[in-house]
This record gives sequence, structure tokens and C-alpha cells, in this order.
Amino acid sequence: LMKSVAVLVGSLSKQSLNRKFAESLGKLANGRLDFHFVEIGDLPLYNDDLWDNPPEAVLRLKREIEAADGLLFVTPEFNRSFTPAIKNAIDWGSRPWGKSSWAGKPGAVIGTSPGAIGAAVGQQALKGLLGVVDVVLMGQPEVFFQYKPELFDDSGAVANEDTKAFLNGFIDKFAGFIERVG
Ligand code: FNR
Repeated sequence: LMKSVAVLVGSLSKQSLNRKFAESLGKLANGRLDFHFVEIGDLPLYNDDLWDNPPEAVLRLKREIEAADGLLFVTPEFNRSFTPAIKNAIDWGSRPWGKSSWAGKPGAVIGTSPGAIGAAVGQQALKGLLGVVDVVLMGQPEVFFQYKPELFDDSGAVANEDTKAFLNGFIDKFAGFIERVG
């Protein structure tokens, strides 16, 4: 049976390059991994008081994380860190105390930026946070992807052969990692 991957995109923008990148990866992964995009834009800003009557968006987030075999975090770099949307989702998923949805799940971090370092510093910061909530992280390969529109075709699929080979390598390695850890 194909393993499922809950995909969290750190950008809330409709034009998000990271979302486009994640969707391209999902197309490439077709037949190897089943990508499910988890909505995080409708989560309220974390507030402990809301647990008295938890928002449906929070319960849905926790259900979708717990149902997934693996986790893929696709984040832009904002001021040398990951985004507040990702931090908010991770905080919600980590609670209530003792009922974290993250612990022990195999995960990977990727990201893209128009800039040359491809969100590397933001990704590195996110890996530190994911270690704290006990996500089991794949260390390699790292994907610091400088986004260039010409690497994709009109349907959003990866068009460049070298890029395709590199990303296929990432997908194969991640699929194997989920099998081993999960
Ligand atoms: C950025 N951007 C950015 N890029 C980068 O490479 N390093 C950085 O530290 C930052 N910092 C930063 C802060 C804030 C508040 C914004 C809004 C943007 C640029 C960023 O990479 C670019 O806007 C991407 O297109 C954002 O990703 P999405 O939303 O297109 O997925």
C-alpha cells in the first residue's frame, strides 16, 4: 500500500512558490507517495484558552497529522527563519500536553526561495523545532531550491531533466525513510 504524506506548506499566499513547488513534487511522487495537503491557514493563532472548546480546524489538523504515514514541511524563509503559519500549526499539533500529534512521525523539510540559498536558513531553523516535538527527521538529501519559473511547464510539472532527477532522488529516499521509520 502506498504511504501517505501530510504536506504542510508554510506560506498562506495563493501565489506561493512553495505551494507550487510542493504541488510539482506531489505530481512527481505519484505512484510512490500519496500527498495530502493539510490546510493551516484557517487555524487561529495559538491560544491555550481555546482548548475549552477546540476549533474544528485544530481537531482536523490533529486528525490529518495522526492519519499520515509521513510529514513533509515545505517552507519559505522569512527573515532567516520559518514562517509563523508553520510555527502556529506545530504548536497546535503539539498539544494537549501528552497528546502531541507529531511524536515519532517520519518527516522531511524542503523549501524554495527566489533567492540563491533556497530557504536554507529557514529550513535549518525548522529542523531544530521539529526535533523538539519529536518528529524523526530525514537528514539527507537537503533540498535548497532556488525557484526559477523556467524549471516548470504550464501545468506546473517539473520540466527540467536535471531538476526532475534531483527531486526524484529526494522522493525515493523519503519513501524509503518512511518505510524504515514507520
Ligand atoms: C521574505 N523573503 C525571504 N527570502 C529569503 O530567501 N530569505 C529571507 O530571509 C526572506 N525573508 C522574507 C521575509 C518576509 C516577511 C517575506 C514576506 C519574504 C522572500 C521570500 O523568499 C519570497 O517572498 C517567497 O516567494 C516566499 O515564499 P512563497 O510565499 O512564494 O511560498
